[in-house]
Amino acid sequence: MRQPLVAGNWKMNGSRASVAELLDGLKAGIDQVTTAEVAVCAPFVYIADVQSRLDGSPIKWGGQDVSVHEAGAYTGETAGPMLADFGCHFVIIGHSERRAYHGESDDLVAQKFSAALAAGLVPILCVGETLEERESGVTEQVVARQLDAVISACGIDDIGKGVIAYEPVWAIGTGKTATPEQAQDVHAFIRGRLAQSSGAVADKVRVLYGGSMNPKNAAELMAQPDIDGGLIGGASLKAADFLAVCSAANR
Ligand code: 13P
Repeated sequence: MRQPLVAGNWKMNGSRASVAELLDGLKAGIDQVTTAEVAVCAPFVYIADVQSRLDGSPIKWGGQDVSVHEAGAYTGETAGPMLADFGCHFVIIGHSERRAYHGESDDLVAQKFSAALAAGLVPILCVGETLEERESGVTEQVVARQLDAVISACGIDDIGKGVIAYEPVWAIGTGKTATPEQAQDVHAFIRGRLAQSSGAVADKVRVLYGGSMNPKNAAELMAQPDIDGGLIGGASLKAADFLAVCSAANR
């Protein structure tokens, strides 16, 4: 059985003070609410603070992006080994905001997936269609293309070392969640696509849902057979909301 995972993606939010308050709230409540694996993905500059506050707690942490390079003259980049040096367990790869605002191609995303694994991190690979793509009926083609780029560059066994997050772009930060059926359909499609290369990997890989998941809709989404948790934006910024989403992930 796949252990559910709930990961917070703080995006570019927070201050040292708000991070401290949020983490203290999470640490105080987490043992009571969930058997799921729980993580927060913080802006790079706060990762040292996150590490010192979460060390010894059951909550893991990670980054939101990683360089394809290991070290060197790449101004502004952060390397996988640096994230590992600060105790990161996860790193988000290919979030739609990076694909849209930073021009990240499927190929670059695949290279980042490899770079994360090489540094001993668990990549959370984001895939998902825009509203226009959904309305033109090409959701499955888009998700297949995004997945296939990583499968062909890294190999199916490496995909098995990561996590996949289905995040329909039209549901991100909009308050418009995919219905449990819409999400389940795409999650089942993703698992089927993986199964074409390896049934064992398809069975084992966790596929998270992301896009306006909150305490009200989390339980119904996570009750779907192919939804193994969530990647949470807005609702991960308040301890009570995030803990409520984590408790919905209990199996
Ligand atoms: P929201 O939960 O704010 O819609 O963001 C989802 C997301 O992009 C997580 O990576």
